This record gives sequence, structure tokens and C-alpha cells, in this order.
Amino acid sequence: MSAALLETSLPLPLARRGKVRDIYDLGDSFLFVATDRISAFDVVLSPGIPDKGRILNQISVFWFGHFAGIENHLLETEFDQFPLEVRAHPELRGRSVIVRKCSVIPIECVARGYLIGSGWKEYQQSGTVCGIKLQRGLKMASKLREPIFTPATKEETGHDENISFERMSKIVGAELAAQLRDLTLMIYGRAADYAASRGIIIADTKFEFGLHKGRVVWIDEALTPDSSRFWPADQYAAGSNPPSFDKQFVRDWLESTGWDKNPPAPELPPEVVANTREKYIAAYRQLTGNEP
Ligand SMILES: Nc1ncnc2c1ncn2[C@@H]1O[C@H](COP(=O)(O)OP(=O)(O)OP(=O)(O)O)[C@@H](O)[C@H]1O
Ligand SMILES: [Mg+2]
Repeated sequence: MSAALLETSLPLPLARRGKVRDIYDLGDSFLFVATDRISAFDVVLSPGIPDKGRILNQISVFWFGHFAGIENHLLETEFDQFPLEVRAHPELRGRSVIVRKCSVIPIECVARGYLIGSGWKEYQQSGTVCGIKLQRGLKMASKLREPIFTPATKEETGHDENISFERMSKIVGAELAAQLRDLTLMIYGRAADYAASRGIIIADTKFEFGLHKGRVVWIDEALTPDSSRFWPADQYAAGSNPPSFDKQFVRDWLESTGWDKNPPAPELPPEVVANTREKYIAAYRQLTGNEP
């Protein structure tokens, strides 16, 4: 196991440093690097999770390939084909891709197939999830009759905010809103079917889309344990919080410390880091059948 890669510093213009990714400007494309940073409750934690960036990147590449008919932002995934100035940094191998520069549509497109997290909290109070009325009698982690689309704004600072489909339509226009909703539910449905065949439940997920030359492009990451809730199907039971292959483990640990969710977060103990790393690796292995 190599040490966590927390920050890159290439002699290239840095377009953006997100919570997890470092994005460099290559002129007519971006170099999109997944570091080993981990965030929870919108706060970057310390230390990082060794190999996490590599695994996330490979899971996204896997899913973009699985949905080859849907336009995505990938231009080049083979490190050996990258420009020389990038190949001079072998630590980026496996954790970076070259992507199309898109204008990001400022909506988080969320699909939920199960009742958990903030959705479960809201349902207990009002019988709704993001304002959508659901049938009565659902339990924690119940499967929904139909997956639902629950958009949120992408906030530059602070937490993303759930919005109604009507509000989304006002922000991006009714036609694009409907297109993104249909695309989100279609990808989620097909991905959930595939994952189920590999023993994984994808409880929910978040997509981002961008525009490139007037066309909608699937950008960012694809159905990773950072952007989704993955549950082992053989341990699932409605009525209890399923174990997970994702960040939930870290979130649960953070909650157990009584942290008030204002930065800085408590330092992750070595066993939490090791355990989280194992979960990301297990997700990759089970989903793709390959070793990371
Ligand atoms: N092809 C693309 N073109 C332009 N921007 C992109 C593209 N793909 C992803 N992005 C943006 O790059 C960033 C990815 O970095 P990262 O995931 O670390 O950010 P983040 O902390 O989740 O960011 P944010 O707070 O904006 O959601 C996101 O802001 C995402 O919207
Ligand atoms: Mg992100």
C-alpha cells in the first residue's frame, strides 16, 4: 500500500481544486485527477485514504464504458497516451483521465431507489422525500415502488440544497430539466440492475451533467461509492441501516464522535482509514470482477 496522495502540484495551470479532484487546464481539455482526499458532510477529512482516488477513477471509467451509448466527458483514459508533461508524473497513473471541458449544469441530479439518509428523516416527519409524496408504511431502507428524481442545487459554498423539480425547471429550463430527469432515472435504473446481478444494491446516486457544443454530456464521476450508497445485497433488510461499501462507514464514525460538523473534523483513526480503504476496494472488486 502506498501513502495517500493528498495534493498534486503539476507545472500546469490549475483550473480547480475540488474537495476530491485536482483539475488542470490542458488547453482544449482538462486533466481530471482523483486524489486520495475524502470528504464527508462537505468537509475534507484528515488523513486521506490510500488508493481511494485510483479506485474511484477506475469505477467511473468502468461505468462510463458500460453506458457507451450515453455521451460522457472522457477523451482519454490510457495514461500512456497522455501528454508528456503529465506522463512525467507516474503517481497520476490510474487516477487520472483527460476530459472534455464542459460548462457544468448547476444541478445535482439525484436518483433514489431506497428510503435512507435525509430522505428517511423527511419521510418520518412528513411522508415525503424532497416534497414527493410516498406511499405509507415504508420503513428505513425500504425499496421505493419506483425510483424518484430529487434534484439539488450545487452550492459553491456550504451544503447543497434539495429543490423541487419545478424549481429546477425554472433554473435550467423545462426542456433540459425533463431531459436530465429522464437520463438520471434511466442510467440509475440500468446501473441498479447491473449492480444487483453482482450482489450490490445501489440505494441512491448523484450525477452531474454539463453542456458541450449545445449537447448534454455526462461529466464528473459515475456511480462511485462517493457519489452513491452501495449496499451488499445479502445483508440487506428493510427496517435497519444496511452495512455499506461507501462513505457511510466514515459518516457513522464521525457521528459517533459527537462532532458538530464544522471544520476541522476529528482526525480519522488508523483502523477507520484501513477499513474505509477495504470498503472501496471491495466495491470495485464486486462490481467489476477485477482487482484494482
Ligand atoms: N468535464 C467537466 N468539465 C468541467 N467541469 C467538470 C467536469 N467534470 C467535472 N467537473 C467539475 O469538477 C469538479 C470535480 O471536483 P470534485 O469532485 O473534487 O469537486 P467537489 O468538491 O465535489 O466540487 P463541488 O463542490 O463543485 O461539487 C466539480 O465541481 C465538477 O462539477
Ligand atoms: Mg464531486
